[in-house]
Amino acid sequence: MVKLLLLLLVLVGLSRQDASPRLSRFNGSLDTVLKMKDDGSFQIAIFSDLHFGENAWDSWGPQQDINTVKVIEKVLDSDRPDLVVFNGDLITGENAFEHNATDVLDQMLAPVVSRTLPFASTYGNHDSQYVLSGEAILAHESRHAGSMTQSMISGRDAGVSNYYHLVYPSDCVDPAKCKPELILWFFDSRGGFYPNEKNPDGSDVGRPNWVDVSVVNWFQQTNAKLMTTHGSIIPSLAFVHIPAKASRALQILGIHPNYQPGINDDTVSGHQAAGWCPDGQTDAGCSYGGQDTAFMKAITTTAGLMALFSGHHHGATWCYKWSGTAPGMVVAGNGINLCFGQHSGYGGYGTWVRGAREVVVTREMLKNLEIDTYIRLETGGVVGSVSLNSSYNNDWYPATPNDHTYCPTCNYTIITPKPDIRH
Ligand SMILES: *[C@@H]1O[C@H](CO)[C@@H](O)[C@H](O)[C@H]1NC(C)=O
Ligand SMILES: *[C@@H]1O[C@H](CO)[C@@H](O)[C@H](O)[C@H]1NC(C)=O
Ligand SMILES: *[C@@H]1O[C@H](CO)[C@@H](O)[C@H](O)[C@H]1NC(C)=O
Ligand SMILES: *[C@@H]1O[C@H](CO)[C@@H](O)[C@H](O)[C@H]1NC(C)=O
Repeated sequence: MVKLLLLLLVLVGLSRQDASPRLSRFNGSLDTVLKMKDDGSFQIAIFSDLHFGENAWDSWGPQQDINTVKVIEKVLDSDRPDLVVFNGDLITGENAFEHNATDVLDQMLAPVVSRTLPFASTYGNHDSQYVLSGEAILAHESRHAGSMTQSMISGRDAGVSNYYHLVYPSDCVDPAKCKPELILWFFDSRGGFYPNEKNPDGSDVGRPNWVDVSVVNWFQQTNAKLMTTHGSIIPSLAFVHIPAKASRALQILGIHPNYQPGINDDTVSGHQAAGWCPDGQTDAGCSYGGQDTAFMKAITTTAGLMALFSGHHHGATWCYKWSGTAPGMVVAGNGINLCFGQHSGYGGYGTWVRGAREVVVTREMLKNLEIDTYIRLETGGVVGSVSLNSSYNNDWYPATPNDHTYCPTCNYTIITPKPDIRH
């Protein structure tokens, strides 16, 4: 009966899509309810740093995007997820055209929409540039069926992609009456530049690169309300583009190829609040302003929060269980797992083999606040398969090979000045 209903829903969804492709505005919150599969599992595919839209005026930019679409298709056909997450830097806004900067999203979303999968994004520093804004990306995403990206906090300092979704049991008929199995939190770590703003000297206006305290307060209050409503802790996962400073501190402690399998080529120096001074100035040569402390305190004191997934550093793909203190940290970890994804796009720096991080939870695993995760590669292979359970960091796993893939007609030297066609 449930299956029949789902089938009907899918058919209704398909016919509605056919009737008005791309143009109609879908309201994700009304159309899409996330549910576990009948076997009690739920799978998420996380694409990070797709970097669509580089240099549309050269042949290599569009070629990169064609290659990136193939990565998305390969990943989605290897493991069919229940939700697709785009974890920031969807577009390289600084070398996109102003008049059609968001049009590349149709390419990014085509493989997801044609497979009738729901999707949810966080925005990254490259998604907010003089010619591009998170608001414009959200408006464009919302035209597509399955769009679940939202903006729940307003205000200049909040950023755009701050919201949550609940995942319900497979047999839930009326979400208002069901207890969710899982909460998914999406945070905007901002960065990049304010759209359409210039400093008096003509330079772009820098945007702080941490999760704002207004968002942290909303997160804690909303989480407390959900716990009260449902009478117990609900397991949760979180997504943010720019990692917190703790990821750098853990890297200094040492990433072991067998205990934290993954690529570890990047120094994680571009974490939240890097390059800012404690007083909010950027031009005084500070290396770190500490403004992500509220966010880190929140994630280490939220009962049930199992892992935080970031992107941003294309050459880091490991997970580390953050327990206790780490060098230079005023916040101590409570065992939350901090994971990077895999560079998914042919745009952006680096030639590390493209892929996506897959996350699998089951009702049984959630009882112990455990999740499984691995990287599905564009080659079809799987690397870095681990259980983020209580003994992670002490369990031995095969090391992840540091493989690269090349596209001879792509140009990995990004950020070239664009022809001046602004209006
Ligand atoms: C989308 O749905 C929400 C929740 O029901 C509602 O508040 C909002 O107005 C809707 N937006 C549009 C554009 O229809
Ligand atoms: C954006 O416009 C430029 C030229 O105006 C064009 O070459 C390019 O293909 C367009 N991009 C998309 C994704 O439509
Ligand atoms: C965690 O998972 C690993 C790999 O499956 C396993 O070897 C280990 O025993 C598990 N630890 C616990 C506490 O269940
Ligand atoms: C790659 O980009 C660099 C820097 O903009 C440029 O000099 C070079 O010609 C480009 N190569 C190709 C094949 O387009």
